[in-house]
Amino acid sequence: MNVLVLMGSPRLKGNTAHLCKPFMEEMAMLGAQVKYVTLADKKILPCRGCYLCQQVENTYGCPQQDDMAAIIPLIQWADLMVLATPIYAWYCAAPMKNLLDRHYGLNKFYGSAKGSLWAGKQVALICTHGYDAAYATDPFVMGMERLCAHSHLEYRGMYSVRDEDDLSSFQTPEACQGARDFARSLIR
Ligand SMILES: Cc1cc2nc3c(=O)[nH]c(=O)nc-3n(C[C@H](O)[C@H](O)[C@H](O)COP(=O)(O)O)c2cc1C
Repeated sequence: MNVLVLMGSPRLKGNTAHLCKPFMEEMAMLGAQVKYVTLADKKILPCRGCYLCQQVENTYGCPQQDDMAAIIPLIQWADLMVLATPIYAWYCAAPMKNLLDRHYGLNKFYGSAKGSLWAGKQVALICTHGYDAAYATDPFVMGMERLCAHSHLEYRGMYSVRDEDDLSSFQTPEACQGARDFARSLIR
């Protein structure tokens, strides 16, 4: 199983990155091929809504020149995409939001091009947040469930931990074991 972890926090060594560690260790132990990409240190421009990607069949087709050119082949390589993000203003942090908006060229729904470059892939979430889990994450989870349904992706669930004491909240045996258990639940 090919697993791509896209880590969207502006803090490259922050809470969300820490929670990804035991998850990825467990995935690798279970035999998955794991790739980890931080987004905040990449150039990922906002979608301009030009719809040019919808006229280009079989390729992503976005005319913008940035690091999405390297990320799209990784998405196509993955069986499972893990979107790891802190909750910011009840949704994902900005680097992840830019990436999500730039999904457009992977679906060919709105122009002369037809088909999908990623239908059938699986999506899971790893989130960290200050409020309790449901209150903090419900809007993002709902958005991702709907994006998956819209894009013919399989939504596999979320693991999240509340930030009660910054990094140490994510290094407890419970938090780490939860991340490992989540990895196990996703392996096929
Ligand atoms: C700008 C900003 C906005 C935030 N918005 C929320 C929020 O809407 N809901 C919430 O539960 N926590 C919110 N938080 C708390 C973070 O989600 C939490 O501290 C998270 O663990 C940070 O992860 P990181 O270290 O990977 O960036 C916010 C934090 C920041 C800095």
